[in-house]
Amino acid sequence: MEIVVTKSELRERLAAARRAGQRVGFVPTMGAFHAGHLELMRRARRECDVVVVSVFVNPIQFGAHEDFDRYPRDLEADAAAARSVGVDLLFAPATAEIYPPGFQTYVEVTDLSRGLCGDRRPGHFRGVATIVAKLFHLVQPDRAYFGEKDYQQLRVIERMVADLDLPVTIVPCPIVRDADGLALSSRNRYLSPEERRAATLLYRSLCAARERYRAGERDAATLAAVVRQTLATDPRVREEYVEVRDALTLAPVARAGRPVVVALAAYVGSTRLIDNLVLAPESEP
Ligand code: PAF
Repeated sequence: MEIVVTKSELRERLAAARRAGQRVGFVPTMGAFHAGHLELMRRARRECDVVVVSVFVNPIQFGAHEDFDRYPRDLEADAAAARSVGVDLLFAPATAEIYPPGFQTYVEVTDLSRGLCGDRRPGHFRGVATIVAKLFHLVQPDRAYFGEKDYQQLRVIERMVADLDLPVTIVPCPIVRDADGLALSSRNRYLSPEERRAATLLYRSLCAARERYRAGERDAATLAAVVRQTLATDPRVREEYVEVRDALTLAPVARAGRPVVVALAAYVGSTRLIDNLVLAPESEP
């Protein structure tokens, strides 16, 4: 596996692959790999000839009081993990390589960036869309892999790709969970052992809503209330939002007649975590 840090090295290395007619798979990340990241890379490995992974903690998707400064960074460990799953090229640019002085061009996906995390993290999805558009432009992947844990992010990126006619196939990949159900996230590293135990409530609350859905409940407010009530059973967990939205458009719904996503954000101690579950008739037993 080769590690490159400049855009010109990246372009040069990929030009050869493209000349050879190879199919390029791309996994954009902010590093601090966990098994969920490695699953995206393994899938790219299975489906593509060349696998490119970027590691870049993107400053413009963090709010002023968020965790940009303390976001975990360990390029050596990340490189070893990426190598172990067969990644060919790791792109790990410095901030100035991506945002040189004078940078002032942004990509904004308007409606899909509103609501849910978009309202709680103003500017976040503009930052995400901008970096992903830049990375797509640099890597020019055939396929790009995104986890469904960041559900709104996935929908924003799919919309951006459609709206800007970007020639890349977005491949959504299922959430990877620990044995007790906690969705894997680089931010789980912030949790104390006690908070880590409490954090299982997030998935349990979504499962409680799924049980009600399977029993025939379709009222969106009732399904959200089930999640809220479950989250409220542990004082270490503080709900930020619980919402039931159309799974494709993310529009608010009154009834879960079509597939819906139950999405939540909650603080466990001072760590903000997100999770979601899609409820669709096919998921009924
Ligand atoms: O999901 C992430 O890790 C980031 O939001 C992404 C897509 C790499 C953009 O910085």
